[in-house]
Amino acid sequence: MLSRSVPTIALTFTRNMSSKSTITAPLFDPLQLGPLTLRNRVLMAALTRSRSVPTSVPNDVNVEYYRQRAQSAGLIVTEGTLVAQQGTEWPHAPGLWNKEQVAGWKKVTDAVHKEGAPIFAQLWHLGRASHPDAPEQKATGQPVYAPSAIAARGGKFRFIPGEPGYVTPTEIDDPTKLIDLFEQGAINAKQAGFDGVELHGANGYLVHQFLDSTSNKRTDSWGGSVANRSRFGLQVLERLISVFGKDRVGIKISPCGGYNDMGMPLKETTETFSYFISEIEKLGVAYINISRYVPAMDPEFDGKKRSTQHDVIETYAHLVKNAKLFVGGGYTGEEAAAAVKDGKVDGVFFGMAWLTHPDVAKRFEYGKALDNKPDFMTLYGKNYGMLEEQKKGYVDYPAAQY
Ligand code: PHB
Repeated sequence: MLSRSVPTIALTFTRNMSSKSTITAPLFDPLQLGPLTLRNRVLMAALTRSRSVPTSVPNDVNVEYYRQRAQSAGLIVTEGTLVAQQGTEWPHAPGLWNKEQVAGWKKVTDAVHKEGAPIFAQLWHLGRASHPDAPEQKATGQPVYAPSAIAARGGKFRFIPGEPGYVTPTEIDDPTKLIDLFEQGAINAKQAGFDGVELHGANGYLVHQFLDSTSNKRTDSWGGSVANRSRFGLQVLERLISVFGKDRVGIKISPCGGYNDMGMPLKETTETFSYFISEIEKLGVAYINISRYVPAMDPEFDGKKRSTQHDVIETYAHLVKNAKLFVGGGYTGEEAAAAVKDGKVDGVFFGMAWLTHPDVAKRFEYGKALDNKPDFMTLYGKNYGMLEEQKKGYVDYPAAQY
C-alpha cells in the first residue's frame, strides 16, 4: 500500500501545484479495514455499467475503467456481480460463476492493486428482479427464484422486446441452494484476486427480498419472524466469511426501501433492520454500508412512494460497534467530511460522482469541483456487443488539472 506521505512530499517541490482543501481533510485520514489500510475514506460504490460485453465476462475496457478510479479511491467495490447466470434489468452485468469471468476479473484486480487500492467484489443475485425471457436467465433453464411467489411492481426490461415489467417469481423450495451460489461466488472472487467481498443486501434484490415481509410470506424457518427473515442474509454472510475470513466481508443494506418495490411500515422496518444489523455485528464483519434515503431510488406506484424514510445514522449507528460503518446516498464531499470528522461514520461511498469523474477522491483532496456532466445516453452502455462503443461515457471522462 502506498504511503500518503510520499506524493505529498513530492508535490511540495512541484511548481504551481494545487493546494489541499482543509474542508475535506478528514476524508484523507487512512483507515484500517481488517488487514487492509485504506489510503482515504472516499469509497467507490457498486455501480451498474452494463459493459461486460459480449456477455458477463470482464474485458479490457472494464480493466481500464477500474484502473483509472483506483488511482485515488480508498476502496473500490465492483458493480453488482452476478453469482448465478441470471438475467438483469440491464444486459452485460459481469458474473463470477465461471473460469472466464475469474480470468477477466483477475486482470481488473491486478490493475487496481498496481494503483494502490483494494477492491471488493459485490456479490449479487437479483431474485425476483430478473425476467424469464432475459437471455442469461433463459440459458440457465431455470425459473426466476425468490423467497415467495410475489411479483415486484414496476420494472422495465429495456432489452427485451416490448420492455416487459417484473414477473411473478417461483418460490425457491430450499433457500440453501441459493446460499451455495454465494459461497461459490466468494470462492471464485478469491481466485480472481479480490481483497474481499460485499454482499448486496440492498435495493430490493434477493437478500432484501428475504428481509422484507412484503416480499417474503414464507411459513417455514425462512419467513415470518424478524429472525426468520434475517436468516438468509446472515447465512450467506457466514458462508462468505468461511471463504474470506470475517475481516474481508462487508454488506450493503438500504433500510429505507423504495427501489424494486421494497418497504414495510416504519416500526417493522426499524425492528427488522435493527435486529439484522445487530446479528451482522455479532458475525464480526469488516464493514456495514448503510444507504440513506435517495429520492431517485424511490419510484411511485399508484401515485405513492414506496419508501419508509428515516435517518439511518440516527437509527442504526449505535448498533455498529466493531464493524466499520460506511454510508452512502448522494453525499457531497463536505457533508461526507463532516460526518467523518464528527465520528458518526468511518467512510462514505460515492456512486454517481465516480461514474463521471475518474478522480473523485483527488478532486475532494484538492478542492476541485465535480464538474463533468453526465451523458445519460451512455451511462449504462450503448450499442451492446461492440467493445469500442463501450468506451464512450465510460473511460473517457477527464480528470481535473492539478
Ligand atoms: C440497477 O442496475 O438499476 C441497479 C443495480 C443494483 C442496485 C441498484 C440499481 O443496487
